Formats: sequence, structure tokens, C-alpha cells
Amino acid sequence: MPLPATPTREFITGLPKAELHLHLEGTLEPELKLRLAERNGIDIGQTTVEEVRATYEFDSLASFLAVYYPAMEVLQTPDDFYELADAYLARAAADGVKHVEMFFDPQAHTSRGVSFDAVVTGYHRAAAEAPEKHGVDAHLVLCFLRDMSAESAAEALEASVPYRDKIVGVGLDSDERGNPPEKFAEVFDRARDLGYRLTAHCDIDQEGSIDNIRTVLDRIGVDRVDHGTNVVEDPALVDVVRERGLGLTCCPISNSFVTDDMKATEIAGLLRDGVRVMLNSDDPAYFGGYVADNYVALAEAADLTTVEVVQLARNSFEASWLTDEQRAAYLADIDGYVAAYEADAV
Ligand code: ADE
Ligand code: ZN
Repeated sequence: MPLPATPTREFITGLPKAELHLHLEGTLEPELKLRLAERNGIDIGQTTVEEVRATYEFDSLASFLAVYYPAMEVLQTPDDFYELADAYLARAAADGVKHVEMFFDPQAHTSRGVSFDAVVTGYHRAAAEAPEKHGVDAHLVLCFLRDMSAESAAEALEASVPYRDKIVGVGLDSDERGNPPEKFAEVFDRARDLGYRLTAHCDIDQEGSIDNIRTVLDRIGVDRVDHGTNVVEDPALVDVVRERGLGLTCCPISNSFVTDDMKATEIAGLLRDGVRVMLNSDDPAYFGGYVADNYVALAEAADLTTVEVVQLARNSFEASWLTDEQRAAYLADIDGYVAAYEADAV
């Protein structure tokens, strides 16, 4: 019996997936934020979950970031970073995530006096425990804050060298306006020389989005692009992305907060054109949806078939930085899940 034509939430949740666009600091749920504020004696100006949620008013990347960065003040000790990552990994496991490459922003912490070591030690402890504790294979990706200087990014990169075995790659995030990727070209060159994999945000509908996508492909030489949905503006560039097999890490629910829609037509169009797109949650504590919610939202908005949803999950592993052997094992797990689902449906 064939798979159901329309993907159900249950099917989506059980489907093995990789999450490749997830900011650990964006997983700080109001409950944990309040608990850490109390533990560390920090006045964040709110004392209830409702009050915290009431501050979540954003309609652009800049207005989101204005809420996002001040909240990080509650993160002070290695245990705080550990608890944040551990809570995310438990939640991701419940959504069928088997492999995750998690962004973190060291400069957002070192700039307020928290040591690089505290951040990486806490996050890495959670990642190291995750296979046994949550059944999730977890890796760290260091992001440079693009609204800070290239010198500051270079410092963060050098600070990472003693932790080289705990970090799989580097990325570029924060406010894109006025901060094009070429500002960090030399920092990325050095990161590549250090053996890091490379990715960079090309956020949705930014000034110069399409030029920035061209730059990260041609000058930076990224291994994938975060968001990057505006590539649809240039069909020749879509061909480049498809031919190189580059992943575009799309985040439909996040898109609907920082722009006026989830870009369902564009994401589904890229999928149907054979581009390696997959779905991710970006900053789930702020945008109100974890990875399975993103699959459900796009499936509904773009009328995805079950076969298309399976292709998204396959793309998530194809675009990951796993070894070929690990990737093949996860892809076989997807085949096994689909086969078992078909057998059960008979
Ligand atoms: N930092 C956290 N989420 C981000 C996003 N979606 N874009 C840029 N920087 C971010
Ligand atoms: Zn992001």
C-alpha cells in the first residue's frame, strides 16, 4: 500500500530528520529564561512567562534581534549553557531529529564578560551526552556576529582554535543590513584553512540579498547557505546551487515573523526544481515552532505530498556535514521508516 498522499503530523514527527539551522540562544524558552534569571540574580524586567511572551513583538530581523540579544544576559555559567542545549536536544529528539548542527554566538557572550571557555564547555557537554541521553548526534557551529567588526570575528575564530575538535564549522549571523559577507571574506579564508566547514546566513528579503548569495557562493565558497531563499530571483544562480548540491537551510515559521509570509511558494518551488532545501526551526523559543511544526506548516501551505516531505528529510542529511558512511546510515533509516509505515498501513 502506498504512503498516504497527504503527510500527517504523526508521519512527519517520526520521520528521521537532521536540523541544520538552529541557534542555541534561540531555544531559550521563557520558563528557563526566568529560572536562570532568578538563579543568577539578574533582573530581566519580567517575572512571569506571560510577561516574557508579551515582549516577543517583532516584524523584522532587526526588531527580533533587539529582543533576542538582551535576553542572553541570563546565560552566565557553563551549567547555564549546558541546560539550554540539553533542553533543546530533548525537545528536538521528540520531533524525530537524529542529527543536529547547532549555531552558537560566542561574541554575544564574550562581549559581556562571559568566557569563551564557559560557553563552549557548557554547550559541548550537552552535545557529547546527546547520543546516549537523547538519541541525537549533535555538533557545534560557531557563528560570527556580522554587525560586529571583522577583527572581532577574527578574535573569536582564534579563540576557537584550542576547541577545534569540538566545533565542526563556522557561520555568519545577526543583522545583514550594511554587513555584507565580503566584510568577513578573510576570516572565512582562515576558518577554511583551520579545517572548518563554512556556512553563512543570507536572510530573507534583505537589501542586496541576491548579491550576498552570489558573494557567499563565489567569494566565500560556502558549503551551504542559511535561508538563501531569495536565490529564486536569479535562475542562473539557482542552477549553480543545484549543480553544486548546496543545501539551503530554510525556516518557514521564522520567515513568517521576520517578513510577511513563510515563503512557501519559493521553498516548495526550489524543492520541486531539485534544489537541496530542507526545513529547520531557526529560533524556536521565539517563533513558536520546533522542526516538526515547520514541516507541518510548509506541507499545509504548499500542499506537499508525502514523497516531497520525505525528500526534505533526505535533503537534511544530504546537506549535513556527516561522513558519507554516517549519511548513508541515516538515509537507510529513512527508507526503513517509510517501508515500515507502508507495511503498517496495509
Ligand atoms: N540570529 C538568530 N537568528 C537569526 C536569524 N534568523 N538571522 C540572523 N541572525 C540570527
Ligand atoms: Zn538563523
